[in-house]
Amino acid sequence: MTINQSKPIAAIVGAGRTKFGELWYDDPEKLLFDAGLNCMQSVDKGIHRNQLEACYFGSFLYQSTNKMGLVPGHMAKELGLNVPITMTEAACASGGSAIYNACMAIRSGQYDTVLVGGFEKMTDRSNKISDDLMFAADPNEFGAGYTFPGLYATMMARYMYDYGEGKQECEDAMAMVASKNHHHAIKNEYAQFRREFTPEAIKKSSLVAHPVRLLHCSPVSDGAAALILTTPEKAHTYTDTPIYILASQQATNDVSLYTRESITSIKTTKLATAAAFKETNLTYKDIQIAEVHDCFTVEEVMFLEDSGYYEKGTAWKGIYESYEAGKTKKHTPYINEQNELIVNPGGGLKADGHPVGATGVRQLHEAWVQLRGQAGGQQVESGLNTALCHNIGGTGAICTVHILGR
Ligand code: COA
Repeated sequence: MTINQSKPIAAIVGAGRTKFGELWYDDPEKLLFDAGLNCMQSVDKGIHRNQLEACYFGSFLYQSTNKMGLVPGHMAKELGLNVPITMTEAACASGGSAIYNACMAIRSGQYDTVLVGGFEKMTDRSNKISDDLMFAADPNEFGAGYTFPGLYATMMARYMYDYGEGKQECEDAMAMVASKNHHHAIKNEYAQFRREFTPEAIKKSSLVAHPVRLLHCSPVSDGAAALILTTPEKAHTYTDTPIYILASQQATNDVSLYTRESITSIKTTKLATAAAFKETNLTYKDIQIAEVHDCFTVEEVMFLEDSGYYEKGTAWKGIYESYEAGKTKKHTPYINEQNELIVNPGGGLKADGHPVGATGVRQLHEAWVQLRGQAGGQQVESGLNTALCHNIGGTGAICTVHILGR
């Protein structure tokens, strides 16, 4: 482990979240407030809101889902604070982008201690949400009748055509990703779905956009998550067990799928992951758990290739073999030679839920509790030192990658 070679950017000293799911009785402000309060209460040595020098919030669709604007104003009222509050919008990577901006502020020396939050309230929009989500795609894709399941179906179909060699095992692997993530969520008290689904059940679920079926998709969700970040120097003021952010990277690309060199890999994942590994002197071999943006199962497959864990076109084989070898374990790791990587130990977007602006922050919450050994029933049992969090917006127009260590 070369973790000591990495100079931390920031320390996470508190993390909190709400349940994810259909939270019809709560306003977005209430969800974010509840996550923030849980986060403040998680700080071991205590913190007062007057110690927060700035806030960074991420969300995507609040203007259409809740007829809400100027979120900083609403949150200034909820928090009773008049500090600078900044909103980031980066579709499903809004939360990751808020964290990236908070890290930049701490790196620059502008602030020592900041609150980061992410939220989304999607379920009230009912059937209109599929159209709303298309703000994160090319208008021509929307005009052609695409939805997000349709866009990812195009990517999945191409992947299976190019690399699946017509084999049943490739289709099985796409279902195994979902089966594994649902299994990981069984003991996650915050998760939207705590039900087992076999790969066979996933392959038989309703067809949404060929070859994507209902159980290949992340759900429509409400929820919020929050973190408190401070400088590495101040971390011990708040806790004896801070978790450090060792890398914070973001990459961007065109929103359109049809202009891409390839639709079977995500360029921004490659760029942000490579930059994060360079920043830390770590490689994928050093990462023990990864929070991966599995909005559709093919996205987790592509991450495993884009991050270098498996070679291009081979992840489905690795997934198939790993699932068969580890499906009876509490967590099913991906195996590559001598390395084991547990992906989405709390269920990922697939089962924990995907309130889009909250997801990037929820990922660091999960990594924080896992690295501190406080993940309850879904705790990974081997001692953990490192985690990687990967958050995607749209079909890959934006990607943030954060590497965390103890
Ligand atoms: N995973 C697991 N179960 C799901 C689910 C999902 N993604 N979506 C819905 N369900 C369950 C519901 O809880 C319900 O179960 P019940 O009958 O036991 O109550 C059942 O499936 C039917 O739910 P319903 O709300 O009628 O489904 P739907 O057909 O309206 O929506 C999808 C299903 C897949 C279309 C919807 O979840 C979706 O659009 N997901 C993608 C969201 C997205 O694009 N996010 C952005 C990613 S970039």
